[in-house]
Amino acid sequence: MELNGNAKVGIVGLGLMGTSIATALLINGQEVMAVSPVLSETDQTAPDRIRHALEECYAEGLSTARADDLFQNITFTSKYTDLKSCWLVMECVLEDLKVKQDVYRKIESSVPDEVIIATNTSAIPISMLQNYLNVPERFFGIHWAEPAYTSKFLEIICGEKSLLEIGEQLYAITKKWGKEPTLVRKDIRGFITNRIMYAMYREAFYLVENGYATIEDVDRACKNDGGHWMTFCGLFRYMDLTGLQAYHSVMKDLFPELSNQTTVPKLIDDIAKEGGNGIFNGKGFYEYSSEEAKVWESTFEKFKFDINRLSSTYTDKTKDISSLKTKK
Ligand SMILES: NC(=O)c1ccc[n+]([C@@H]2O[C@H](COP(=O)([O-])OP(=O)(O)OC[C@H]3O[C@@H](n4cnc5c(N)ncnc54)[C@H](O)[C@@H]3O)[C@@H](O)[C@H]2O)c1
Repeated sequence: MELNGNAKVGIVGLGLMGTSIATALLINGQEVMAVSPVLSETDQTAPDRIRHALEECYAEGLSTARADDLFQNITFTSKYTDLKSCWLVMECVLEDLKVKQDVYRKIESSVPDEVIIATNTSAIPISMLQNYLNVPERFFGIHWAEPAYTSKFLEIICGEKSLLEIGEQLYAITKKWGKEPTLVRKDIRGFITNRIMYAMYREAFYLVENGYATIEDVDRACKNDGGHWMTFCGLFRYMDLTGLQAYHSVMKDLFPELSNQTTVPKLIDDIAKEGGNGIFNGKGFYEYSSEEAKVWESTFEKFKFDINRLSSTYTDKTKDISSLKTKK
């Protein structure tokens, strides 16, 4: 089966990720059918948020086309049946099994059997979601990172019943969206990066909850250690670059002492149960006045374009040698 990557891409759900993904597709020349079946408050502001992101992309040089021109390539609708002309439909709705199941039923009853259906789930196994579909072979995870239009991250995940051959085609097509995708050939909860990141989050809570360091110190250490090199290379390359013998010795003694807690840490549980949502309501691991929250938000907006430029420079510099193979 040959995928027609030139037709429209459908997005269902226009919350934070749906709008960010729509922007990423538009700046890379892809036409979009944006479906918001539930007109929640966030969905109502979606067109404005997409237009604003497109303007930012133009101003920062990430797109050579103006927002007004790109905006012609997106259609907003509340009807699932408008998805019938798409080659791919990406579900970006709440991380809730029941909601996702209902959405797949509605997508499947609106599109032909050859249309690829994908989910942006953060961590629900693709093989589990796949069971909700009548044609499970055409179902994949396409996992984006926020902000989808500045990050080159994309994971394509095959469930037990997905056709690997289609996964490989998706991998090739998504490179044209300016991504450096990874293909997860065998499904696992959390995929690649969430497994790695959540192992880090767990250890961060362990250090703070047990009094070894403050939240500020853990943040500062991460920013200046991993944050210093992770945009340049991944974990395995970094061990090669700095001499892997030392890592081998440290692992023997350190691994048995790392946290293996299986419950949600009390520190986040308490804040979450009191309704804390970080900069969105000023209550998180830090407290924010509305001015402070705005400054963090706008500084991060600026940073995401700068880091995109920096990583592109270094991808170009290393691309001649990037064909070197790993040992295994
Ligand atoms: N936020 C992130 O950084 C991030 C990163 C990667 C993946 N994800 C995943 O992306 C998905 C969407 O996350 P988000 O952050 O955009 O959430 P969000 O809360 O911003 O948006 C959720 C969307 O779901 C829609 N929705 C709610 N109930 C619905 C229903 N019954 N039928 C149809 N649509 C419904 C809402 O209208 C809204 O558009 C989730 O699966 C999440 O785990 C999020």
